[in-house]
Order: sequence, then structure tokens, then C-alpha cells
Amino acid sequence: MRLLVTGGCGFIGTNFLYAMRARHPDWRLVNLDKLTYAGNLGNLRALEAEAGRQYTFVHGDICDRGLVARLLEEHQIDAVVNFAAESHVDRSIDDPSPFVVTNVLGAQNILDCARRAGTSRVVHVSTDEVYGSLGPTGQFHESTPLQPNSPYSASKAGADLLCRACHETYGQDIVITRCSNNYGPYQFPEKLIPLMYVKATAGEPLPVYGDGRNVRDWIFVDDHCRGVELALLNGRPGAVYNFGGAAELPNIKVVRTILRLTGRDESLIRHVADRPGHDRRYAMNFDLAARELGFAPGVSFAEGLERTIAWYRANPDWLAEVQSGAYRTFMDSWYKERA
Ligand code: NAD
Ligand code: TYD
Repeated sequence: MRLLVTGGCGFIGTNFLYAMRARHPDWRLVNLDKLTYAGNLGNLRALEAEAGRQYTFVHGDICDRGLVARLLEEHQIDAVVNFAAESHVDRSIDDPSPFVVTNVLGAQNILDCARRAGTSRVVHVSTDEVYGSLGPTGQFHESTPLQPNSPYSASKAGADLLCRACHETYGQDIVITRCSNNYGPYQFPEKLIPLMYVKATAGEPLPVYGDGRNVRDWIFVDDHCRGVELALLNGRPGAVYNFGGAAELPNIKVVRTILRLTGRDESLIRHVADRPGHDRRYAMNFDLAARELGFAPGVSFAEGLERTIAWYRANPDWLAEVQSGAYRTFMDSWYKERA
């Protein structure tokens, strides 16, 4: 298999590339990444050294038609997995424009280029957030209407609809995956779990939005990567597959667990102004993926969180590096407004 992975220098893309290299050493992996604030070339140093000619990094934008077309042709790509995105809800509230450009126009560009090149499959990596928000009961199914509430989720839903349209209109082989909240090694410390770890270890206040009772379904990143791999290998053309971790938890419980694991006490918790349009609850039904792909999350939240914290503890240099420069500008102004 000759695989183009986009956004491979981000959190999930990095984990996916290492997993594919380990499980499919005969695959040729091409990673196209723009290296935004969330992309880190250093993540893949070990892969680059070990994989030799089986791995190629290309610095560029998924919106660049000439570049994407050339990569598909030059590397004779069989399939594309599109992880590249602007991915942080709070940043999308601050400025939606880059989200529309990368998440919608970039995704469309990949679909167009793949169609013209005759690439046999595109896996588009999407999110449970396209479904909107649940009340106290129920789950998202693949047939749940899309009701995105943030600029981030609206841009992801836009791309999902374009994927559907390209499958229906041109018969393109496209598989959409929608996953719940990931956590694990290499996650950028603007998302809940690594941010709370960073704050707790520094002895700084932990900013909990609103009452802290919003519920997310947490999945360890390796399980998500396995799901994407299964969709790539065995997904039905035109299908949508939900993936979840079967670990629904209110934010406050996650935060308390991190405080316990880092040996800090709960006096560090600060309830701050709520996120505008904050989705109350997500819960995933992934029966379809279980039935058609054999998907099942393998790592419990307790085990996954311990592994995650152990990774951050072992990689202080990584944390220091990604928290320098542009990271500070957004974080300082966002949390100043909410205090
Ligand atoms: P991330 O923000 O950590 O990484 C995104 C990567 O995409 C970065 O390396 C960045 O440099 C790259 N990128 C951004 N714009 C680009 C562009 N125009 N061209 C090329 N590269 C570009 O994100 P993540 O958490 O790894 O998420 C990856 C994908 O999975 C996203 O599509 C996201 O919507 C989806 N997803 C994430 C989660 C989650 O919990 N993190 C859950 C479900 C789905
Ligand atoms: P996040 O990691 O941003 O993921 P998403 O918004 O995609 O679900 O947030 C997870 C939950 O944690 C969400 O309900 C918002 C909440 N949250 C806080 O309470 N404080 C914070 O500082 C952050 C970043 C998130």
C-alpha cells in the first residue's frame, strides 16, 4: 500500500503513522503537513530514522491543488487518510476562518485531486461533534442528523457532507470515520487532558468551564488509530463509522482524576466562564463499526490515562517545546477573558 497521510505531524496523525509503520512495514507512507502551531516535525524523528525510504515527509498545505495532485501522481498513492485540520473548538470560536479554509476547502481539494488521479480510497477522519449535543440519555448513531454547534464542528460537518456528495455524485470510494474525544501521547496541551496535566504539575489553577458537568466519551488514541486502519482496509465505500471509547465521564471527574494522579489537591480547581455554545454531552454508538469492521476499544480510561500521564512525565522537553512561541499568545488571551 502507498498511503498519503495528511496532518501526520499532529496528535492523532503521529500516533497513526507509528502504528501503521509497526503493523505494515511494507507500506510506503507519505505525510503531508503544513506544520501549523499544532504540527510538530520532531514527533516523527524516530520514524524518519527507522523507516528510511518507506517514509517521506512533505511540508505543504492540503489546500494546494498542484501539490496534492503531484504527490498522488509521483508516489502512485493508493489511498489517502485525511487527518489534517484545525482541531481546537476554542480557537474556532476565536476565529472561524482558518477552520473553513482547511477543514472544508482543504478536504474538498483532497477529494477533487483523488478523483482526478483515480486514487482508490479516501478515508476522511471526522468527529462525533458534527452530531451536536445530547441530553442526559441516548447516543449518537451514524443516522443521527448533523447539528453542529461550534465553528469547528460546523466545518467538519461541511467536509462530511462534501464526502457524501462526492460518493453519491461521482461514485468515489470515500469512507467517513467519526470518533469521540481522543487522549494519549503527543496531544497538544490546549485540549482538556494535557492542559490539566500541565496546570496541575505547575501547581497552577485548573480552568473548568461552567459547572464541569459536560460529558465526553474518551477514547485512547491507539484505539482510534486501529479504527481508522480498519476503515481503510475493510470499510464499505460511502459508509460512515462511529468510533467511541465507551468511557463517558463528566469533565470534573476527569480533572479530579488528573489531580489525584499528579498528587495535587482539589483546591486548584477554578470554575471559569463557560465556553459559548458548549455541547452538554457526547456518547457514541459504535455497533456498526463493531459489526462490519470488528472494531472495539481495547484500553480502559484508567489504563489509558495512566499511560498518557507516564508519557508526558517522560517527555518534559516535548511539552516545553510545544508550549513556546505562538502557543502562549492564544492561551494567555483566551483564559484571561474567562477568569
Ligand atoms: P491536531 O490539531 O493535533 O493536528 C492537526 C495536524 O494537521 C497538524 O499537524 C497540523 O499542522 C496539520 N494541518 C493543519 N492544517 C493543515 C493544512 N491546511 N494542510 C496540511 N496540514 C495541516 O489534530 P488531531 O487532534 O490530531 O486531529 C486529527 C483529526 O482527527 C482532525 O481532522 C480532527 O478533526 C479529528 N478528530 C480529532 C479528535 C480529537 O479528540 N483530537 C476526535 C475526533 C476526530
Ligand atoms: P476539549 O479537550 O477542548 O475537547 P472538545 O471541545 O473537542 O470536546 O474539551 C473537552 C471538554 O473539556 C469540553 O467539555 C470543554 C472542557 N474544557 C474545560 O472545562 N476547560 C478547558 O480549559 C478546556 C480546554 C476544555
